[in-house]
Amino acid sequence: MTIFTRAVVGATAARPVKSLITETKPGLALAKKFVAGDTLDEAVEVGRDLNKRGFLLSLDLLGEEVHDKVSAEAALHEYMDCLERIDAAGLDANISVKLTQLGLSIDEGLARHAVEQLANRAAAAGTTVTVDMEDSRFTGQTVDIYADVQASIGHLGIAIQAYMKRTPDDLERLIPLGGHIRLCKGAYVESSEVALGVKAAVDGAYQEYLKVLMAAEGTKPAVATHDPRLIEAARSLSPQRISYFEFQMLYGVRSDLQESLVSEGFPVRIYLPFGSQWYPYLTRRMGERPANMWFFARALFSSSP
Ligand code: FDA
Repeated sequence: MTIFTRAVVGATAARPVKSLITETKPGLALAKKFVAGDTLDEAVEVGRDLNKRGFLLSLDLLGEEVHDKVSAEAALHEYMDCLERIDAAGLDANISVKLTQLGLSIDEGLARHAVEQLANRAAAAGTTVTVDMEDSRFTGQTVDIYADVQASIGHLGIAIQAYMKRTPDDLERLIPLGGHIRLCKGAYVESSEVALGVKAAVDGAYQEYLKVLMAAEGTKPAVATHDPRLIEAARSLSPQRISYFEFQMLYGVRSDLQESLVSEGFPVRIYLPFGSQWYPYLTRRMGERPANMWFFARALFSSSP
C-alpha cells in the first residue's frame, strides 16, 4: 500500500471531497469509466456488448458493509435477481459478492445462508459466485464460509490477496476444494502486522502464489491483475498448464491489454460493477493510480467557470 494510496483513501473519506466527486460532472465522468451504470439493466447492456467482443463477465452489485438485516436481505435479493437475469439473457457471466454486504458483520450465519442460496441459484443457472475478499477484519470468516459452502454445494470461487501474510496457509486449504481462486494484489489499507507493505514484496509474493496456482490441477486459477510483468509471468507458465485458467481485469482498466489477451485466445473475464453505491469502489481505483486523480482534477478545473 503506497503513501499515495493511503493519502487518497484518507482524503476521499472527508465529506466535502465526497460531494465534489459524487455531485459534479467530472466526478460522475470518472465513475462512468469504471462502473457500468446505476442499474442491472445498464449492466446487462454493457455486458452483452463485452460478451460479443469475446469477454467473460463477473457482475458486481456495488455496496459495502451493511449494519442491519433488512439491507443484507435486500442485497441478497438483488444478487438473486442478477443470477436470474444472467440466466434469462444468456450472458456468459458469473457474479462477485462481498460478504459484509450480505450481513457478515451483523451475523455470520446470515452471510453463510446467503452464500448457500446464491450457490444453489448459480448451480441452477450453470454459473458460479465469486466471493470478493475485503479487509483483514473479515478474512478468516470469509475463508471459513467459502470453504464450507464450496465443500457442500460448490459453484463458488474466492479472491485471495497476495499482500496478506496468511495467504500461503489459505491457498493450502482452499486449492483442494476445486473452486475458482482469483489471485489479486489486495486493495485495502492494512497494517504491517497482517500484510506486506512494500510493492516489490507484494509483486514477489504474487509471482510465488501464481506458480503454486498454475501448477495445481483441479482448481481454476484467475489471474486478476493489470500488471504487465505478472501477466507475462502467467503467460509464460501457461504452456505447462493443461487445465483451465483465466485472466481477470476490472472494467475500464487497461482495456488495451484486455483486448490483446482476448485476441491471443486467452479467456479474459471483466469484473463489471454496477449500482448506485459506487463511491468506495471508485476511491479504491483512484488510490491505485495517480493518473485517475489527475483526470478528475483536470476535468474539475476545466469545468469551473
Ligand atoms: P498495479 O496496481 O501494480 O497496477 C499495474 C498497472 O495496471 C498500472 O501501472 C496501471 O497501468 C494499471 N492500473 C492498475 N490499477 C489501475 C486503476 N485503478 N486505474 C487505471 N489503471 C490502473 N482486491 C481486493 O482486495 N479484493 C478483491 O476481491 C479484489 N477483486 C479484484 C478482482 C479483479 C478482477 C481485479 C483485476 C482486481 C481485484 N482487486 C481486489 C483489486 C486488486 O487487489 C488491486 O488493487 C488492483 O487490481 C490493482 O493492482 P494491479 O494488480 O492491477 O497492479
